Amino acid sequence: MTPPRIGVVGSANVDLVARCEALPRPGETVMASSLARLPGGKGANQAAALAALGAEVTFVGCVGADESGDWILSGLAARGVDVARAVRRDVATGTALIAVDASGENLIVVAPGANDALTPEALDLAGLDLVLCQLEVPVAVVEAVVARATATVLNRAPARALPPETLAGCRAIVANEHETRSLPLAELAHVVVTRGAEGASRLERGTEVAHAGSPRVTPVDTVGAGDVFCAAYALGLAEGWDLDETLRFAVAAGALATLAPGAQGSLPTRKEVEACLDAS
Ligand code: RIB
Repeated sequence: MTPPRIGVVGSANVDLVARCEALPRPGETVMASSLARLPGGKGANQAAALAALGAEVTFVGCVGADESGDWILSGLAARGVDVARAVRRDVATGTALIAVDASGENLIVVAPGANDALTPEALDLAGLDLVLCQLEVPVAVVEAVVARATATVLNRAPARALPPETLAGCRAIVANEHETRSLPLAELAHVVVTRGAEGASRLERGTEVAHAGSPRVTPVDTVGAGDVFCAAYALGLAEGWDLDETLRFAVAAGALATLAPGAQGSLPTRKEVEACLDAS
C-alpha cells in the first residue's frame, strides 16, 4: 500500500526557552537556571513528529528570509520533512518565549512574525491525503485548508474563534481542556480532548465515547507534547486505523515526548510508541 502523504500547514518558531524552579505569576520576576534557543512552532513540531513516526510529510508554512528561517527549514529537512512548499517572507521568523518549571510544566507567548504572512494563495495542498493544522497562522489560512484539503485535522491551539462551517468541515478536532471550552461540542462529530497526565478522550457530539489513560512517565519538559499527540493521531486517521487504537497510540506518543528538553527534543519513533504500549 502506498503510504498516505500528510501535510502540515502551520507555524514555525524559534523557541527561547528559560528553565526556572517555578513559573512566574502575573507581576512576578523569577530567575532562570538556563536559556536555550531551540526549533519550535506547533506546525514545525507536528511535521517533525510525523517524520519521526515514519510518515511521508510535507510542511507548508512561512518563515522569514533570515538566518532563523534557514535554520528551521534545514532542521526540518534533515529530519526527513519535505519543505519545498514552505514560503519565505521579508519578516522576522516567528519567536516563542517559553518558561519551563522544575516539574516540566510550561507557559508560552508567541510573537508570530512571518507566520502571520502566510496567505491562502500561498497554500499548495496538491497530492496531500490529509492536512494537519493549528491556529498559530491566520484564521483565513485555516479556513482555506478546511475548504480545500481532502481531509483536515485541526489542532485548536491556541484557542481562536472559527466559523461554524470550518469547525464542522474538519475530519477531527484536537484540543486540550481549555481549548475545548468554547467549542460547540454538541455540533461536532469528532473531538479529541487531551488531558495531560490523565490521557485523552474522544467525544462524539459532546458525549465521551472513548478514553485512553497515559503511561506513567516523569516529565522533563511538556513543551510540544500536544504536538506529538496531534501528529500521532493524524497518522492513525490517515492510515485508517481503528479510532480507539489511534487514541491509545497518540496518548503514548505524547507521553514519550515529555522525556527530554525542547519541543523537538524527544520525538518518538513508531517502534518506541508500540514498545511503550506493549509495556503498559
Ligand atoms: O506547542 C509548543 C509550541 O508552541 C512551541 O514550540 C512554541 O513555538 C509554540 O508554538
